[in-house]
Amino acid sequence: MVQASAPGKCILFGEHAVVYGQPAVAVAIDQRMSVGLEPSDVWRIDGMRFDPSRHPHVEALKQRLWKDGPPLAIKIHGDIPPASGLGSSAALSVAASAALRCARGRQIKDDDWAEGWTAASPEDAYSGPWELKKGDFVEVGAKAVDVDECAILAHAVEATAQGGRASPLDSSVCAHGGCIVLSDKIENDLNWIYSRSLNGVSWEVHSVELPKSTEDVWLVIGNTGIHAPTSQQVAYVASLIEEHPDRIREIETIGIISRRGITALVEGNMENVGRAMSENHLMLRNLGISCPELESLISAAAPSSLGVKLTGAGGGGCMIALTRNPKETSEAIELAGGRTLISRIAAQGMTVDFEGESTLWNPFE
Ligand code: MEV
Repeated sequence: MVQASAPGKCILFGEHAVVYGQPAVAVAIDQRMSVGLEPSDVWRIDGMRFDPSRHPHVEALKQRLWKDGPPLAIKIHGDIPPASGLGSSAALSVAASAALRCARGRQIKDDDWAEGWTAASPEDAYSGPWELKKGDFVEVGAKAVDVDECAILAHAVEATAQGGRASPLDSSVCAHGGCIVLSDKIENDLNWIYSRSLNGVSWEVHSVELPKSTEDVWLVIGNTGIHAPTSQQVAYVASLIEEHPDRIREIETIGIISRRGITALVEGNMENVGRAMSENHLMLRNLGISCPELESLISAAAPSSLGVKLTGAGGGGCMIALTRNPKETSEAIELAGGRTLISRIAAQGMTVDFEGESTLWNPFE
């Protein structure tokens, strides 16, 4: 059995605008998805026959990392509610990439990885199965797993599921954990990790060391229970801008608010972080991606919070409240009909949690 897990995420600033290259900030949350793999006679997910149409992310990863490999029984579990804007699909994709990569092992040739992220160009992850180059196969277990590789694979499969429009925000934060900032340029005050580009949009991906003061605040996540597919919400914003090109200014304003939020986060000024979150929400509401249920949870949480906003694609899903009183805020949201989760800001990224029989497929045998 090989098992890997990855955290969900909350977007603090910049959802939707990030699809157009504006800066955005996301943090990993305490809730996680875990993927376990075992050899099997036929492909199964959670005991049922694997149906690629029900699990498009797993299917896309299988095509990239496990083409022609032996069947596996896949076990998925976790406490991230699906389709709620908390990155459940990105966390699943990252954890599945890590588990598949660990189970496939990796070859080493001339002291270097013979295939995979370090040898392949990033575009390969987007285009499909990776070419195998014959080399010396070694069992390397969890060491075969590379965080950047899992992030890029998860982005590739998210993009496929979202009709080609997906920023690398969810995939990066679910892989790396902590706090991730995307921007259209390299930000000197932040730790730049890599560049990504897809369909003509480029992002510079950074990680942010959060100051101590972020440890005294919590995120209370309020779930409306309404499922709103990200692809539809992203397509709605795209059509809005196509019909009214001047509304791109609202997207740019979200970018300006995100920048203010990033400065406040780095300084550890949580009052200003909260203020920027609430302003960001007003812009998202104007764009038409909130809904009455989100608004009622947001109004309920506001009096006990530093800042409140919807998080993720909107149209349902979740809101978040940044608060020093998680119990009070959580009770207020529940009274208004939401289901709550509480998380600290910036949880640990992906991990390989267990590797018994770690190599389940040697493609060169
Ligand atoms: C979804 O969690 C965030 C969006 O900005 C889409 C994306 O970044 O790909 C709505």
